[in-house]
Amino acid sequence: MSCDTNMVNEIQRLKKERNAIILAHNYQVAEVQDIADFVGDSLRLSQQAAATSADVIVFCGVHFMAETAAILSPTKTVLLPDINAGCPMADMVTADELREFKAQHPGTPVVTYINSSAEVKAESDYCCTSANAVKIIEAIDADEIIFVPDQHLGHYAATKTSKNIILWKGYCPTHRRITPEELTKQKEAHPNAKAVVHPESLAEVIALADAVASTEGILRYARETDAKEFIIGTEVGILHRLRKENPDKVFYPAFERAICPNMKRTTLEKVLFSLQDMEHVITVPEDIAALAKRAIDRMLQIV
Ligand code: 13P
Ligand code: SF4
Repeated sequence: MSCDTNMVNEIQRLKKERNAIILAHNYQVAEVQDIADFVGDSLRLSQQAAATSADVIVFCGVHFMAETAAILSPTKTVLLPDINAGCPMADMVTADELREFKAQHPGTPVVTYINSSAEVKAESDYCCTSANAVKIIEAIDADEIIFVPDQHLGHYAATKTSKNIILWKGYCPTHRRITPEELTKQKEAHPNAKAVVHPESLAEVIALADAVASTEGILRYARETDAKEFIIGTEVGILHRLRKENPDKVFYPAFERAICPNMKRTTLEKVLFSLQDMEHVITVPEDIAALAKRAIDRMLQIV
């Protein structure tokens, strides 16, 4: 029996013993996706975290995702297998900075991307994910909206609404590696392929794409589009599910080094240790959680 098989068996056994569920983001390494009970985008993972009857949630993703699960399921134990798995974009705005920014735009509603800390969500009116940013902005009864922290998702959403969006200057370092030059190279190499990109991408990359979608939206697009080849403009971890679910289709990364180091911190071994040692427990102070939950619930009510 291989070392991996032993580890998988032990993870399965501990999962039962602890009444745990394993949630994994679409960017996780293949072997972690394969042992998860549910693999999805930020929106669907937060809905799963809110709905599960398990006592323990092992969150294979990054810190803000585990925090969101802890906010939505305060009676459950939420574990993050690698405590250093963070999101540099989420770290690009602090609650103090947002408070100052809000003071410069009094009365303007704040929509905050789920890639943010609980403290920043607590300062926000609405939360959103890449799957619903446009829908949330459209649903708000205001002509001007502050959007934090992702300038690219905010800019993309602004092109889809008539509202004035005030952007914070955050960005995803992994998506920024996907350049228009790299995407053009792939388009020239595969002229029959459809190009679908994530809205965290640069506007110049989005302009070259056939479609723009969240990770789950990219999976849906590949499933439902009548094409045989696709160029995928997002973190390369998504290729595992795309290829598994569409064995008759071919997928090319827009840029093969679009790898999020934080998403790749979670390994099978760390998932096993996490269940063995019940580490690392992610908690959010009650007052912050209550305010952050208000913004997340407002999103979940709209979608
Ligand atoms: P989605 O899976 O929600 O599209 O998010 C992408 C992402 O960058 C998560 O960190
Ligand atoms: Fe953050 Fe980008 Fe990594 Fe997602 S892919 S966790 S936005 S750094």
